[in-house]
Amino acid sequence: MQNLDKLKAEILSEIAAAKTPDALETLRISALGKKGHITALMKELGALGPEQKKTFGAALNQLKGEVNARLQEKKNALETKALNAQLEQDHLDVTLPPEPASEGRIHPVTQVLEELMEIFTAMDFKIAEGPHIEDDFHNFTALNIPPEHPARQMHDTFYLKPGTDGARKLLRTHTSPVQIRTMLSEKPPIRIIAPGRTFRSDSDATHTPMFHQLEGLVVDEFTTMGHLKGTIEAFVKAFFEVDDVKMRFRPSYFPFTEPSAEVDVGCERSKAGIKIGTGKEWMEILGCGMIHPKVLEYCNLDPKKYQGFAFGCGIDRLAMLKYGTPDLRAFFDSDLRWLRHYGFRALDIPTLAGGLSR
Ligand code: DAH
Repeated sequence: MQNLDKLKAEILSEIAAAKTPDALETLRISALGKKGHITALMKELGALGPEQKKTFGAALNQLKGEVNARLQEKKNALETKALNAQLEQDHLDVTLPPEPASEGRIHPVTQVLEELMEIFTAMDFKIAEGPHIEDDFHNFTALNIPPEHPARQMHDTFYLKPGTDGARKLLRTHTSPVQIRTMLSEKPPIRIIAPGRTFRSDSDATHTPMFHQLEGLVVDEFTTMGHLKGTIEAFVKAFFEVDDVKMRFRPSYFPFTEPSAEVDVGCERSKAGIKIGTGKEWMEILGCGMIHPKVLEYCNLDPKKYQGFAFGCGIDRLAMLKYGTPDLRAFFDSDLRWLRHYGFRALDIPTLAGGLSR
């Protein structure tokens, strides 16, 4: 019995001192394994007399139970410790800002689109959308471009096969049909921009069959050319991030506006590219005008009560001017090397307060 107490004290102190699960397993084997100390004592029981067998057997069983329990306890403690150490090492502070994605890039068209939306929503414009597949009425007729109007020829329209009614739908050639849809579905005052894809059968260094436009539309009971000029000026300054910009409104013609104008901004061309704002040369950036009374009538608005202005410009062209990308076709080639060079960091969202482009 003396023996057993000593053995017990030894085993338990070794368990208490074990530092790793492996060391603990070695201890278990040396005590309770096939050739373990306690197992060896169990084997000796057979040789004892009945009384001794009873007391020694009970004591051995108790020892075995206690060793097992301590082994389990220690095992749990070591596992908890290991887990805590691991968690400490993998510590993740969920309140930190996310790591900016280093690989993904924002396409210049998306970047410019976001800049435009930031500028115009700050001026209280809403974003409107319309379908890419349009009908003749919305794309042409209601914009005061009746059949046989020469302006139709200028649009290089993609037509779809005639429907059961014989009418041919088309891929919208500009974002102006969104003006019509908005005026037909909403009551003035209206202030919208409509960015989106447009399609024309045309392809060279500055034209692609699919391109992007931004349409602007304001309709109210008292809207003047002065409001149009102020809006365009604020937009151009914000977009090109300059305090002063030389601008001219050049008389022009669009069937859906009267009077109509094209807006040029001053610029300076050099080997390094084009600098927008000042300079001796001019660069055309958009078309605009006061909504033609006929267009208002097509949209069931009384031209005596309502007036408004509209403008339209090419988003890809704005991106080329602002970010100096020479060939428009490369915009839609999906060449990753091009995107890595001209693209924008994913989390640099353009804001007027923080800077549109950084
Ligand atoms: N829709 C014209 C185009 O595609 C652009 C445009 C010019 C839109 C003048 C307008 C505008 O709203 O007033 O060429």
